[in-house]
Amino acid sequence: MRQSSLTQHDFTVISNTQVAEGVWRMVFASEVARSIEPGQFMNFEVPGDGSHILRIPLSFSLADAAHGRVVIYYAVVGEGTGRLARMRPQEASTLLGPCGNGWRLPADTSKRALLVAGGIGLPPVVAAADLLAAAGVGFDVAIGLRTKDALAPTLLQELELFQDKDTQVRMATDDGSLGLHGFATQAAEQLLSERDYGSIYTCGPQVMMAGVAKLAEERGIACQVSMERMMGCGFGACACCNVALAAGGYALCCQDGPVFDAQEVAW
Ligand SMILES: Cc1cc2nc3c(=O)[nH]c(=O)nc-3n(C[C@H](O)[C@H](O)[C@H](O)COP(=O)(O)OP(=O)(O)OC[C@H]3O[C@@H](n4cnc5c(N)ncnc54)[C@H](O)[C@@H]3O)c2cc1C
Ligand code: FES
Repeated sequence: MRQSSLTQHDFTVISNTQVAEGVWRMVFASEVARSIEPGQFMNFEVPGDGSHILRIPLSFSLADAAHGRVVIYYAVVGEGTGRLARMRPQEASTLLGPCGNGWRLPADTSKRALLVAGGIGLPPVVAAADLLAAAGVGFDVAIGLRTKDALAPTLLQELELFQDKDTQVRMATDDGSLGLHGFATQAAEQLLSERDYGSIYTCGPQVMMAGVAKLAEERGIACQVSMERMMGCGFGACACCNVALAAGGYALCCQDGPVFDAQEVAW
């Protein structure tokens, strides 16, 4: 397993705007851009309320090592993400990162990969697209959302940076307002019936990832999942982010993951 060089870094907000229903996009400057790898995450200290001592774990979509910039997307769901949304350009704080272990290249790079994202699980899937494109692996994408207003157009633009001429992006929404009326797993199933894939990468709600893991297992396709757990420390000290393993016992989401082989996880 690759060891991450976890360090505290400063970050300075460059922009921070709402880009979809309940979703914000932040671009920030930080040295972490030079060491973070696709699928890893950062743990953010959000200023504004000293009584909230826990940091907020967030993934990223793009990291530009040359310019020291990182792009994150976050859903405002509570106190901490609410304060994050109020950070203005030039405001600074700290983050811990890179945290955990990210996406790995597939064993067979000659076949296309299928990426499956649900809701705010799309940013780390864009990072997976970056990793795959850099290795010359073509990919298709199945995206599931609650409704069309939950889609951040900038995420699709970022995804386009890594697509090849054959890439298909298949959308599904719970209310049928965009693409297929249904779930990401159904969009994934369509693509699986049309094309031959050597690997699957997925991030989103646990129930969706369990469905994707089942599709992969039935077809004998290697599948990586990016798990989410409530986190305390984010670096293996508090043992509060357990992921139950198929072989018995537990792994730590923050340190052993967040990316696991789907077969390792007890769904
Ligand atoms: C490795 C990792 C990567 C993540 N990446 C992203 C990302 O890129 N974008 C994004 O929007 N969110 C991401 N999250 C989830 C994000 O960390 C939480 O939404 C955030 O910490 C909530 O903080 P809060 O103070 O606003 O909410 P709180 O007031 O703490 O909680 C509000 C609600 O969110 C739920 N919640 C809080 N933390 C988590 C969590 N870790 N997982 C699931 N539910 C949670 C609570 O149960 C509660 O229902 C990630 C989580 C992990 C573990
Ligand atoms: S969050 Fe503390 S051990 Fe994982």
